[in-house]
Amino acid sequence: MKKIGILTSGGDAPGMNACIRAAVRTAVLNDIKVLGFYRGYEGLIENDSKELTRYDVRNIIHRGGTFLKTARSSDFKTLDGRLRASKVIRSHGLDGMIVIGGDGSFTGANLLSIEHDIPVIVCPGTIDNDLFGTDYTIGYQTAVDTALDAVDNIRDTAASHNRLFFVEVMGRDAGLIALRTGIAAGAEGILIPETPTDLNQLVNYLKTDFKKKRRSGIIIVAEGDSEGGAYEVAKKVQEQFPNWETKVTVLGHIQRGGKPNGFDRILASRMGHGALLALKQGRNREMIGIKAGKLVHIPIEKAIKHNVAISQYLLDLVKALS
Ligand code: F6P
Repeated sequence: MKKIGILTSGGDAPGMNACIRAAVRTAVLNDIKVLGFYRGYEGLIENDSKELTRYDVRNIIHRGGTFLKTARSSDFKTLDGRLRASKVIRSHGLDGMIVIGGDGSFTGANLLSIEHDIPVIVCPGTIDNDLFGTDYTIGYQTAVDTALDAVDNIRDTAASHNRLFFVEVMGRDAGLIALRTGIAAGAEGILIPETPTDLNQLVNYLKTDFKKKRRSGIIIVAEGDSEGGAYEVAKKVQEQFPNWETKVTVLGHIQRGGKPNGFDRILASRMGHGALLALKQGRNREMIGIKAGKLVHIPIEKAIKHNVAISQYLLDLVKALS
């Protein structure tokens, strides 16, 4: 193995830089050259690239976002796009690719490998934590910390004014940010896409338990909740309680930015290192995951085709403590 390519794809996640840094530095140690592609698969197709030395990745371990930039590529979803990408890879004589991203990026990497016989190893980089086969994805813990900071601030003002806040957190298809943020923030309710939302149940809870004991509260709503997000839920609840003061805050992309916390820097460093070694060992079409603290290799197909189960224990915990 003489030379490999690396790129970040899909939504950025705090810790992606640390992952690139680890892969590049491990490559240098093993006398392997690394070509970095900018803007994910878009840059790969257009051959927008630069050779990365160990110096190119200094002073980035603490930075959010990705210095290689990222994109959601529609071209790469086509046979022709992947053919063009494979030609770029061959023209540089690359022996394999490392892709850091989420499930969409993994699907593309898998197809590229199957169609063009190019070894690929992928690292889970998404704040959503929605990939099967790993306990954590790069950026998830930081996103929860960021959301939690915001919710703590909201609670101060909610309590001061006796208001009920609906806070929307990211997660188009996954409620894991909502679940963890909700537990850590002591939220009064959590609505997530993985479990059917029963608005009547929420209204009943607010009518009985909540009305008697409290004057303010926080309901965390995942972006992908079946009721259509925090504004919709707040509107429906407000109709039932016209005299209450309800407010909505959508946290949005502040959860994706910001410097990675210690956990994500270490996770990303282990995964980037593991990805390079996996390629060198001749492994292919696998995701680097972390299970019970140990690095594991999971077939990409498994990582993207299986849903991450939401822990019933954590759901019960929310109920018990609210
Ligand atoms: O990367 C995951 C994620 O942040 C989801 O939680 C969210 O639904 C989506 O990306 C938003 O994507 P974009 O920034 O492209 O609108």
